[in-house]
Amino acid sequence: MDKFIITGGKKLSGTIEVSGAKNAILPIMAAALLAKGKSRLINVPYLNDIKMMAHVLRVIGARVDFTDNIMEIDATHANYCEAPYELVSKMRASIYVMGPLIARFGQARVSFPGGCAIGTRPVDLHLKAMEALNANIETDHGYIIANCKKLKGAEIRFEKVSVGATCNALMTAVTAKGETNIYNAAMEPDIGSLVDFLNLMGADIKGKGTSHLIINGVNKLNPAEMEMMPDRIEAGTFVIAGAITGSEITVTNCIPEHIRSLLNKMEEAGCKFEISEKSVKVLPVNKIKAVDMITNPYPDFPTDLQAQYLALMTLAEGSCTIEDTIFPDRFMHVAELNRLDADISMNKNVATVKGVKSLSGAEVMATDLRASATLVLAGLAAKGTTTISRIYHIDRGYERIEEKLNKIGAEIKRVRG
Ligand code: UD1
Repeated sequence: MDKFIITGGKKLSGTIEVSGAKNAILPIMAAALLAKGKSRLINVPYLNDIKMMAHVLRVIGARVDFTDNIMEIDATHANYCEAPYELVSKMRASIYVMGPLIARFGQARVSFPGGCAIGTRPVDLHLKAMEALNANIETDHGYIIANCKKLKGAEIRFEKVSVGATCNALMTAVTAKGETNIYNAAMEPDIGSLVDFLNLMGADIKGKGTSHLIINGVNKLNPAEMEMMPDRIEAGTFVIAGAITGSEITVTNCIPEHIRSLLNKMEEAGCKFEISEKSVKVLPVNKIKAVDMITNPYPDFPTDLQAQYLALMTLAEGSCTIEDTIFPDRFMHVAELNRLDADISMNKNVATVKGVKSLSGAEVMATDLRASATLVLAGLAAKGTTTISRIYHIDRGYERIEEKLNKIGAEIKRVRG
């Protein structure tokens, strides 16, 4: 297993570019199954999660070519309606093939994803939405088995905001007969991106960017071509990298509006930015003060940036609380940050962070995707050397992170294991 060895305390300077948005691309890749023919996705990063989804599509019978950050998915001969345990257990987002498989073939057999390092993550909302659309759902030996003769438009009211369930409901409803109304839909930009792609394929979806999506079922979808939007979580991570090292850096190829909640919170903490249409320049400041934060669905503060923001707060002046309402157990990074001399205590899903003067390098372990990014951020700011093991987590969601950060002055060495 690869490790990162980080020599901390270096100032960063220059421009760092954001790659395509993993969480937008994964459902779009699944959506390509809805049409016979070749879809083309541009600006797709080389990430393990994306390669894993390509693998899932190939198992289903699609042809996937991936070169120069362009992915072509030809789903003409897709015919195997299953996502097996070996794949779904490695990547929960494999559940995204369920909607398209029911919509195109009237059947799907997908393994239950189970829990993961950030806690139990049920899929009941996905299943309820599909049942509302007239699919028959059964479970058998750890598998979800869906069958349907004819999908029918329906009224879906999510009792909780779910990104994944909204995506699956959309992909199931696009060819259902009649009108579907999804209420309390997730409003994350990733959903907007899926709506754009489905509409390019010939779907009729209105309400993009709102919590009420209206879908008029169409008979058939065609393949489509689209450029993938930039990754807001990667952008946010880089903005925090600038702030935590007291550096001046410019994060480019991003959509600042998508990280508005983070920028607002950081401005409250005393950070300074120059924001333009597609970039955020982080300006060095003398001190950052501690500011409380609570995660909530978009447009509020994203759970996917909770860990990184927490790293920044370890060095802030004063103390603050950080609460995760989406994934209450998502605090595996706390024990690791404390190994770097941070002062964080936990009470249920609330972390109390007392700012310290400095962090000091140590050996730590990455436990999940965003927690690993946090350890990189803390390692950049810490005095001395930080060694992070199990960095395969970071390769799931950050494209060449060490190369990108080294280009602007970081010192991160990947040691192949
Ligand atoms: C997606 C993102 C993940 C992000 C999360 C929340 C992808 C591939 N992953 O995950 O990075 O952290 O959104 O922004 O895009 N829930 C249920 N029942 C369900 C589904 C969800 O109770 O059927 C709960 C979850 O346990 C959680 C909340 O709803 O508490 C939100 O989860 P959801 O938005 O579905 O997360 P994912 O789509 O899995």
